[in-house]
Amino acid sequence: MAAAERKRVLFLCTGNSCRSQMAEGFARALRGAAIDAYSAGTHPHGLNPLAIRAMGEVGIDVSTHASRRPEEIGVSFDLVITVCDSAHDACPVFPSAHVMHVGFDDPPRLAKGARDDEEAMPHYRRVRDEIRAFIESFDVNASDPREQSLKACECGPGCCGAPTEDRSEDRAVALPLEIAGGSATRPAGSLAGSSSSAARASQQAEQDALRNQVREGYARIAATGSWAAFAGSSLPNAAASNAATTSSAQNACCAGGGCCGPATFTPEQLAQAIGYSTSELASVPEGSNMGLSCGNPTAIAGLRADEVVVDLGAGGGFDCFIAGAKVGARGRVIGIDMTPAMISKARTNVAGYVAQTGFNNVEFRLGEIEHLPVADASVDVVISNCVLNLSPDKAQVWREIMRILKPGGRVAVSDLALLQPLPDAVRADLEALVGCVAGAMLVDEMRALAHHAGLRQLRLEAKSDYIDAMTDWQDPLYLKIVAALPAGARVSDFVTSLNVTAVKP
Ligand SMILES: C[S@@+](CC[C@H](N)C(=O)[O-])C[C@H]1O[C@@H](n2cnc3c(N)ncnc32)[C@H](O)[C@@H]1O
Repeated sequence: MAAAERKRVLFLCTGNSCRSQMAEGFARALRGAAIDAYSAGTHPHGLNPLAIRAMGEVGIDVSTHASRRPEEIGVSFDLVITVCDSAHDACPVFPSAHVMHVGFDDPPRLAKGARDDEEAMPHYRRVRDEIRAFIESFDVNASDPREQSLKACECGPGCCGAPTEDRSEDRAVALPLEIAGGSATRPAGSLAGSSSSAARASQQAEQDALRNQVREGYARIAATGSWAAFAGSSLPNAAASNAATTSSAQNACCAGGGCCGPATFTPEQLAQAIGYSTSELASVPEGSNMGLSCGNPTAIAGLRADEVVVDLGAGGGFDCFIAGAKVGARGRVIGIDMTPAMISKARTNVAGYVAQTGFNNVEFRLGEIEHLPVADASVDVVISNCVLNLSPDKAQVWREIMRILKPGGRVAVSDLALLQPLPDAVRADLEALVGCVAGAMLVDEMRALAHHAGLRQLRLEAKSDYIDAMTDWQDPLYLKIVAALPAGARVSDFVTSLNVTAVKP
């Protein structure tokens, strides 16, 4: 086939570090006669050495590939294939190209928790082989690539070159608008690249394993009443952990800050630093504030009397009790948490709340935020504080929020989010996961998932107070993350606390 007839195909990912590079490598090596292959990232951050190694094992050298943005290539593409869900959800506009989605699992995320490269490599090899199988078989010369793309893609209007939905309302925000990624989990139902039920089962097992690690960590925190008491008792902090420290002990430990709160402050001091008033703190039952928050969602929720509120990842019930006082006797607050010890603790705290306020309007339900034990269209306001980052399936959480809200219902979420992708060393750190940093999404990924779920009037406001607090207080997790960043970088260059508000149309 003459060069002019070859299709110019772009493989698009977020970091252009791993999956898109593998796809470009295989396309060049195996389909060079039909495909002029390129790869790019919405937020490129250099090649992943384990991806280079995995490709080297099958005789393909990608070490000389560049990691770059699409516009740096200077080519107009015939076909754009998004190979990760963040690029899929963001779906930058390529006016002359057809776009299809074949999401593959993220090897660095799969390898989170691997003790060394040898434990990580099987994940890279598995994804590499899936990418190879796709590259070998996809029909670049299909008579109507659009038809092929629509079969593969479930992202709806605005993506895949279909008529673009007006997103202008969601663009009126103070943060950079470019959609980027690197840590989002795969939205359920976007398994075009590995659509067998076995792949689904394996994905669910991975998600369960991550949830279990997080649950184990928070069970320990619930048992001690705060992460600080916990960190000072049975488990060593991260800096002191050594080869003898078992991985399960690390999984259970919030030895530093993040959601676990800075190491050097009390829960009350942390809450004051992130905006809780003295009267709010005085009004909640003792023990409900465990220093696990990173924002103050009831302050941005505009709660009114009689409203029904659901708190995702309620912990000891801290925000539920503040919300309960705001919605009053005829309102209702339902706290959801997947950690039985947290639910028990929160329920124990209810008696103090009833005695103090006279309201019997707060309850706690055991459940996962990806599968909420709440009826459809029954809720006025969903709040959450430092929890969404912990979910292994954030797209599903946003769909659940959308499901349970009444039309006109509102969301007020505080969370940690990323301003740029974290280095792989931080993303793979389990302590940083339980500490609410490693699982955090890019700000624009969060926006894309909420929008994709159907929420509108999205407002995302980055707040520096929480990270500033960790900086000022020389928090151990903060220091550990700094050590893994490029020289001179600050955690606040990467991580921010974020307030998200939105409305269900
Ligand atoms: C950082 S703490 C925040 C607790 C509370 N929102 C606060 O501010 O005090 C995270 C809580 O979310 C819960 N959690 C984490 N992942 C969850 C999930 N997938 N489903 C339900 N609860 C989850 C944990 O058990 C823990 O209690």
